[in-house]
Amino acid sequence: MINYVPDQSNIKCIHELECDVLDKIQEEIMNWVVDNTNFLDEKEDMGFWKKIDYKAMARVCPGLLKYMASIKIPIREITVGLMTESMTNGFTLHNGAPPLNFKINFPIYNTEDVWTEWYDIPQEDFSKFASWTNHHSNTAQVDFSQIHDTVQDMYPCLLKYNMHKCPIVFNSFIPHRVMPGPGAKYPRIMIATMPVNDPIELMRK
Ligand SMILES: [Fe+2]
Repeated sequence: MINYVPDQSNIKCIHELECDVLDKIQEEIMNWVVDNTNFLDEKEDMGFWKKIDYKAMARVCPGLLKYMASIKIPIREITVGLMTESMTNGFTLHNGAPPLNFKINFPIYNTEDVWTEWYDIPQEDFSKFASWTNHHSNTAQVDFSQIHDTVQDMYPCLLKYNMHKCPIVFNSFIPHRVMPGPGAKYPRIMIATMPVNDPIELMRK
């Protein structure tokens, strides 16, 4: 089983998934958010990822589980991505760590005018940036935060994408940042589901 794809040149940034039950999934997730979190009132948090009791969430989100079963992509975890009004400068440029490249993201709430941008930064340039050790994966990760505000002048943008109409397979290995536009509303809420195996066949160009 090969999960990690070091050469991303033939791999897409996203793959849109057909989903005719997105309304139902959004409703289930928002009911869980209202009953179990203060996310709707949160104005200052800048951490973005919220670790949650995903098993408890899954129990009250049968539509989500049914949909995941229908696309035959088993998942091992769900997290919530929360963009508060303190994050008008965006979610910092970063990339993911091996061993997995991809996750499946769902737009949930206040999804308009928020743009994920992927940048084509050659791997040979990675050594120009500071690094940090990801203790979850025990790998050296590049710290792209120093070029968060300037990356658009330095490297080609591969894709600028507003996730709002359907779930997507999301390439987290290619460096990306999340930028709210002037019409963004807060908090913007999405969920990320982590597949057991990378669904790489969907991501080949
Ligand atoms: Fe990311």
